[in-house]
Amino acid sequence: MIILAIETSCDDSAISLIKANGGFKRPQFEILSHNVSSQTKIHEKWGGVVPTLAKREHGRNLMPLLVKTLKEAGLFAVAKKDLPTFETKKIEKILEREPELLTEFLKTIPRLKKPKIDAIAVTEGPGLEPALWVGINFARALSSVWNKPTIPVNHLEGHLYASIINENVKIKNKKAKTRDTKIQFPAVALIVSGGHTELVLVRDWLKYKLIGSTRDDAVGEAFDKVARILDLPYPGGPQISKLAKAASQTTAPETEIKLPRPMINSGDFDFSFSGLKTAVLYLAQKLKAEGKFNDQTKALIAKDFQQACIDVLIAKTNRAIAKFKPKTVIIGGGVTANQELRNQLEKAVGQHPDINFFVPDQKFTTDNATMIAAAAYLRNLTGTPKKSLANLKAKGQMPLK
Ligand code: KG4
Ligand code: ZN
Repeated sequence: MIILAIETSCDDSAISLIKANGGFKRPQFEILSHNVSSQTKIHEKWGGVVPTLAKREHGRNLMPLLVKTLKEAGLFAVAKKDLPTFETKKIEKILEREPELLTEFLKTIPRLKKPKIDAIAVTEGPGLEPALWVGINFARALSSVWNKPTIPVNHLEGHLYASIINENVKIKNKKAKTRDTKIQFPAVALIVSGGHTELVLVRDWLKYKLIGSTRDDAVGEAFDKVARILDLPYPGGPQISKLAKAASQTTAPETEIKLPRPMINSGDFDFSFSGLKTAVLYLAQKLKAEGKFNDQTKALIAKDFQQACIDVLIAKTNRAIAKFKPKTVIIGGGVTANQELRNQLEKAVGQHPDINFFVPDQKFTTDNATMIAAAAYLRNLTGTPKKSLANLKAKGQMPLK
């Protein structure tokens, strides 16, 4: 099955084309093209994502991304004859709220041969609704012109299965007795991103039970906010990890910096990161008053903040392992780009020789459309009824079901 996938839930515009096969028995994915256009430069000066700007940028990015993706996959062909029957009026209606995208769409798409794809996948939620709508309307317009089914995808489901895309990264636990390259169920999944921090019990493909989540800020959000306190640019995650690494390498005497590990002993699977962020804020204010808020103390804060997040995430994952005795632990989401988190989680899961540990390849950690295509393939295997295009809606809040 060849799937074109579109992802616009936040500030990355992404389009991928994949060839998938194997079914639930052994899902396999060949990436024909994987493209992400980051809007970081646009949002950086505002210190975070501005939804209206994200919407505008998606509108500008999607057509060039689509052309690039089709070309890379060898599916871009200008029609010499047999132009697809083109209903301009219908497309104008579908893309009425995306004027820039509409103009570019009408310039290019009517000249193209219908590409040999089987479906168009698109993120329907959760995420920023103005941003989600652009991807959804784009998918609806393409689906209408090319007469292809649309598969709506939950963004979190994309993150959850991101680690099965690349065969090389499937098994991290060298000691594991079970060497199967597919997920064995039950599995425990830890999804950590800018909008979510969730522990999910996965009983079988696409069968979820949310066992814990954050009560306030997501862990990625905490990285972003703490970065701002430390005068670092958005997005904060990569900046904090860089600074933390620098602190680890310095031989400077440790200043007393010990941040709280919120809810680490709460006896459940929930998280809280807003108090940790506030603790950093107060500490920064105190150090400023004492004239000690400098590169060295900032690096030490970054290091202990990162370790506090890791300690809590590992403690809760361990608790889930003890209770649910999973055969697989899966991680996904932007925060899993953090190398220290990957290393320490691998060590923790490695204590259980029978558990396979699934870690996404770096390029599938933050938002991308390949993971959306993979999730769409799995969804499609269940014969999920196709939604009529008119019923496809952006869902800002959307749990994993
Ligand atoms: O999955 P993602 O791209 O978007 C959402 O679905 O939210 O995750 C983005 C989040 C941001 O908060 C970013 O700061 C964080 O992932 N992030 C990191 C790292 N790289 C990205 N957090 C910690 N360490 C990193 N290296
Ligand atoms: Zn995401």
